[in-house]
Amino acid sequence: MLKIIVCVSGGGTNLQAIIDGVERGTIRNTQIGGVISNNAGAYALERARKAGIPAYCISPKDYGNRQEFNDAFLKKVNSLGPDLIVLAGFLVILPEKMTQAYKDRIINIHPSLIPSFCGTGFYGLKVHEAALERGVKVTGATVHYVDEGTDTGRIIAQKAVEVLEDDTPEILQRRVMEQAEWVILPEAIDRIAAEYRVLDT
Ligand code: GAR
Repeated sequence: MLKIIVCVSGGGTNLQAIIDGVERGTIRNTQIGGVISNNAGAYALERARKAGIPAYCISPKDYGNRQEFNDAFLKKVNSLGPDLIVLAGFLVILPEKMTQAYKDRIINIHPSLIPSFCGTGFYGLKVHEAALERGVKVTGATVHYVDEGTDTGRIIAQKAVEVLEDDTPEILQRRVMEQAEWVILPEAIDRIAAEYRVLDT
């Protein structure tokens, strides 16, 4: 069984897709060991609690400086003992200590086709605003491993989504979520869990 933890910051629709996938059996051999948010008001925490998953908030606001927050965050992650860490709309840059300690065991969903519209400053709605401003006709989402850089790790999966004439950033964001993110993130976890089982036996 692959034990995952999911890190979130906001609405948690990707978390919900993972919870649903595990419940329906489309994500196999996987257990969600906990959800961590950096934001106490994140609806994602509510989704976790409703599903009976331990949910924690580690907020920078509760610590004197970044170092203390980073240490507390890493300590919480370590205490949950994950095989895989899933960043699902987690808008915090991970401490380097963590990317090193969990090399090849952290994945992220990004709402564009990397290497377009990614890196520092490209998150959430800003990604879709930039795509519309540039006038691209196709966008999408990417699941990738997390390394020390921002959105630079090895790509696991991508799915393209059409941009339509009258799209607003909100409409495009929703289409990218529905057609790409909620599909490829659960699939990637299922695939990693399948490989994990092979390694495990
Ligand atoms: C998602 O679109 C995710 O791809 C994006 O934030 C949103 C979170 O939504 N992540 C990033 O932009 C990371 N750079 P959710 O909380 O409903 O899953």
